[in-house]
Amino acid sequence: MKVCIIGCGFVGLATGVTIAHLGHRVRLIEKDDLKLASIEKGQAPFNEPDISSMLSKGLRNRRISASNDVIEAVKASSFIFIAVQTPPMKSGSPNLTFIKESAKEIGEGLSKGKIVIGKSTVLPGTTETVVAPILENVSGLRAGKDFGIAMNPEFLAEGTAMNDSLNPSRIVVGSTNRKTATEVMKLYEKIDAPKILTDIRTAEMIKYASNCFLATKISYTNEIANLCERFEVDIAEVIYAVGLDPRIGGQFLRAGLGFGGSCLPKDLSALISSAESIGYKPELLRAVRKINEKQPIRAVEMLEEELGDLRGKRIAILGLAFKASVDDIRDSKAFPIVVELLARGANVIGFDPLATAFFIQILPEISYASSAREALKGADGCIIQTEEKQFSKLGKEDFDLMNTKLVIDGRRIFSSAKLARFGVKYRAIGLGKRT
Ligand code: UDX
Repeated sequence: MKVCIIGCGFVGLATGVTIAHLGHRVRLIEKDDLKLASIEKGQAPFNEPDISSMLSKGLRNRRISASNDVIEAVKASSFIFIAVQTPPMKSGSPNLTFIKESAKEIGEGLSKGKIVIGKSTVLPGTTETVVAPILENVSGLRAGKDFGIAMNPEFLAEGTAMNDSLNPSRIVVGSTNRKTATEVMKLYEKIDAPKILTDIRTAEMIKYASNCFLATKISYTNEIANLCERFEVDIAEVIYAVGLDPRIGGQFLRAGLGFGGSCLPKDLSALISSAESIGYKPELLRAVRKINEKQPIRAVEMLEEELGDLRGKRIAILGLAFKASVDDIRDSKAFPIVVELLARGANVIGFDPLATAFFIQILPEISYASSAREALKGADGCIIQTEEKQFSKLGKEDFDLMNTKLVIDGRRIFSSAKLARFGVKYRAIGLGKRT
């Protein structure tokens, strides 16, 4: 089947590469010249394992082609995916500018029998009340009658996008009619996963409900972690046992400095702001966000509990990205931590194996090290902000370089016994028992 994907960010490219891998012909549309040139060479314009090799393979076997011409691609395709970005506005609601622009262009190339599918995350009702009317006005055709309209949300996590895309936990397709939804589902025929056919609003809501539930699990764990510190018990032991209950499940229960990234905080805020705009008070969701805003500051409080006044103290922060093994700094918890440290008069030195070049653009006023070892040199304390494998391999000789051997483990990568052997004072989120 012939498919085109409008927008080759993380979601669009992963979707396109996956659909080509499943045997369909895919035209990737990217308006940014530099990104398009990179895609044409078989190189994803962002850091994501496996995607470039699969893209190159698709280009070689001619299942994938790329261009910047939306109208020509729409004319040549039966399925048109909208995968452009929906960045958050100040209010928290998603900015629909790129979606609206895409819908206009798609409308110009649209003809009877084609199906337009939303991939970008949008609030319930957006496809029907914003996207469909633009398509109808520009094309002069009727949605659900002359052309199909659908929503097919994605559930990809950065760093594992290709695996998540090829082995999804479920595939959701919402449409105004079952025939269209079934047609879209046929694209994924070769994937063995639960397949859910529903209406468009439900498909849109499934995406928000999923991400907000993941966010809730994390904030819940962090709240229990903060209590564990006071009750002198260890959250890691507690939550392991809690997660063995199949009604709860063990995933997404890692206590830490809070959730960041391009999706969970954005989708949570979007749902909150949309709820408020229709007169509903989303009290649980507000609490999830509040806990997440406060959680990173816990690391700074722990430092202060150990060191006293932080003025003039040299603090190393290991991990600047929003999670390990990615170069993405969007909503990284390193930002509120560094800002708080600076406000309390500390000197900060940061290190990240992939994300430093991006972080430095936002916060040039702190120092940066070219290795974790270098960051530790002369430091009065160290905060572990991501669960990078290389940080957990730091040894006694590295910590011996510190001025004060103090580690605040924000992601629970060390055991207290191990750091005690190194003579390091160890504090960790949710660890009530201290060494
Ligand atoms: C997330 C969802 O997992 C994915 O399904 C959705 O499509 C997009 O948003 P992503 O943002 O790539 O993916 O990262 P994820 O691995 O989910 O982590 C998000 C944040 O939560 C990170 O800051 C991570 O450190 C934090 N986290 C995750 C925790 O603090 N504890 C956990 O148990 C899991």
